[in-house]
Amino acid sequence: MAAAGSGHENWSSRSAFILAAVGSAVGLGNMWRFPAEAGENGGGAFVLFYIFCVLLIGLPVLLSEVLIGRHGQASAPDSVRKVARDSNASGGWSIIGSLGVFAAFLILSFYCVVGGWVLYYVGVFVSDLFQTGLTGGAFDGRAAEDIEGLLPGLFGNGGLMVGLNLGFLAVTMFFVARGVSSGIEWVAVYLMPIFFLLFLGITIYGAFTGNFSEAVSYLFTFDFSKLTGEVMLAAVGQAFFSLSLGVAGMITYGSYANRDTNLGQTSGIIAGADTGVALLAGLAIFPIVFAAGLSASAGPGLMFQSLPIAFQAMPFGSLIGLAFFVMVFFAALTSSVSLLEAPVAFLKDKVRISRAMATILVGAGAALLGVLASLSFNDMAEFYPLSFIPLFAEANFFDALDGVTAKLFMPIGAILTCIFVGWIADARLIDDENGLDGALHQTWRALVRYVCPIALFLILLAGIFPETAAIVMEGIAARFSRFG
Ligand code: TRP
Repeated sequence: MAAAGSGHENWSSRSAFILAAVGSAVGLGNMWRFPAEAGENGGGAFVLFYIFCVLLIGLPVLLSEVLIGRHGQASAPDSVRKVARDSNASGGWSIIGSLGVFAAFLILSFYCVVGGWVLYYVGVFVSDLFQTGLTGGAFDGRAAEDIEGLLPGLFGNGGLMVGLNLGFLAVTMFFVARGVSSGIEWVAVYLMPIFFLLFLGITIYGAFTGNFSEAVSYLFTFDFSKLTGEVMLAAVGQAFFSLSLGVAGMITYGSYANRDTNLGQTSGIIAGADTGVALLAGLAIFPIVFAAGLSASAGPGLMFQSLPIAFQAMPFGSLIGLAFFVMVFFAALTSSVSLLEAPVAFLKDKVRISRAMATILVGAGAALLGVLASLSFNDMAEFYPLSFIPLFAEANFFDALDGVTAKLFMPIGAILTCIFVGWIADARLIDDENGLDGALHQTWRALVRYVCPIALFLILLAGIFPETAAIVMEGIAARFSRFG
């Protein structure tokens, strides 16, 4: 077991920690899932409830996770064990870390599949730039159905899907193998600033060339009647995924933080940056989509299908399209690196093998699951690995990985984290670590002890019993709308 000070790696500075953690949080969740979910769930109501969830549930859990890691100075399970020992509690709580590490591994394996799609679109726009040139719109003269067909075309090609998936995973492995300060920190310190610059540029471009005002009113007009149970559940789930919570990722990143980092403040910055990027992603994508007269509710196809069609009609379309997907690639890479780091840190501490060896072992496992997930869009579309569980009866391999992690591992991990930090861990130890004083400390503590675990438990139940939950939530929403 790695104890504090036994050569556990560290971030080289507080800003490196912040950039890496923001890099973990900001990813496909912000650029792809957030706008898709907002669009499918009616815009403003979803967005407002999302912000509410980040503040009341996401932020308190985020601080709890980095705090465990920073105190433990070891891989996730060992960090939890150290906090437990120092609080005279059972070492069995380390299950929070072990479950989380396993879940991070599962998420990694399907995250890299989508990362592969992003690589594909980078390639599409590079070749388009050569064909249509710099100034005109993208995909000169091609029919909209053709552009929309690129994604199903990719899905139909099992070999290409697997190749891109493994390519994205290999890049992730390369940086994790290089270690905390020269690999993980390197991607964060170099790629995140480029990400922010491209992102700002594209948002400004969207604001000037697209339908900005329609996008603003779509995203920020709050209509109570649209706040259904389904919308609320989608919002909490999205907040959790986007903040990288519930699966030991933030415990691991917290473990590389120094004693003098103020964790309360740092968590606020991470959550603020992540939420800001999600909102801005909506403000970058929707004006372009609306200007092209396309629908907001395209779901997963919004970024991969609607946006490329929209780039066709825009000046510098190919160039902006390329910049857009390169930017998404950078964001996705800094997230997949954090997903891989959690299991690698664990394995390397546990079995005492080198970081490179641990990376290869975890990477090989993720490659195996990733191939199955890639093939579930084509050759293995009819394979339902969890058909014996009613909840996942019709989930192919990709959907099963997504469903099990989002509906079970993430809420369970977060509930246990709240109970552990709120009720089990020594209050003085927590007080000493969290960097909060006075009213802020009291509020955070009340949220972690009562509000978060109860809310998360309801979310867990709602995920397991969707029909019952829908009926209950409709009732609640109806009651609310009477006041609205
Ligand atoms: N938050 C990342 C995103 O929005 C995804 C991610 C990275 C993640 N690490 C995680 C999700 C850990 C859950 C848990 O794309």
